[in-house]
Amino acid sequence: MSFLDNRTFQAVVSAFWLAFLAVLGVNIVGNLIMPEHETVEKFGYPVEVPEVQTAAASGPAETARPNIIPLIAVATVENGATVFRKCQSCHSVEEGAKPMTGPNLHGVVGRPVGTLAGFNFTESLKAIGGEWSYQKLDDYLENPKHLAPKGSMSFAGLKKHDERAAAIKFLMSVSPAAPPLPEVPAEAPAAPAEAAPAEAAPAEAAPAK
Ligand code: HEC
Repeated sequence: MSFLDNRTFQAVVSAFWLAFLAVLGVNIVGNLIMPEHETVEKFGYPVEVPEVQTAAASGPAETARPNIIPLIAVATVENGATVFRKCQSCHSVEEGAKPMTGPNLHGVVGRPVGTLAGFNFTESLKAIGGEWSYQKLDDYLENPKHLAPKGSMSFAGLKKHDERAAAIKFLMSVSPAAPPLPEVPAEAPAAPAEAAPAEAAPAEAAPAK
């Protein structure tokens, strides 16, 4: 009995060993073959992908801020009010409301930067100077650290152009003294389009007459 048990036990043990060695062998052989396949493929495709992605991701958000004026022109106060929910925890907009973490933004469009009485603005924000123009608000709201590197507004910024435009439209609606929106949109695209045919026309007309 014990002899049989011993033999059975040994058979089981050696079966396990064989299985273990077989798996080990497959792994070793597999590792010898696979890395070559992987390196070949890595040189082929993935190199291109990250380059394309970083260029697309950093391009529009960081470098090219479009003219915000036409976007403000088409934005709605309603959408702006929705975007402004991100600001509400720190900013009131009702006339005469007390400042919260941030200053009251009633009348902020066209107001001299960092001057509202009763709020302790940072030197970094005050150093911006001038008044809150549409362009300045656009720049500040995209990333407050652009204009006020040591400012105290702990807000990452509105990266989407139409969100900023909507937020500014909302700020206009609570700013009775806001300057009128400059009329850039109609002229800007029309000027180059007219210039091209105007130059071409005289050149063609001259030899004809
Ligand atoms: C976490 C709180 C917080 C949030 C969220 C926040 N702000 Fe501010 N904001 C501040 C603080 C604090 C200041 C004063 C900054 C300084 O003095 O450097 C400020 C300043 C400003 C100013 C300058 C006001 C002036 O009178 O010069 C504007 C404009 C402004 N915020 C707009 C916004 C808008 C729009 C949003 C939402 C998209 C927003 N903020 C979100 C805290 C916040």
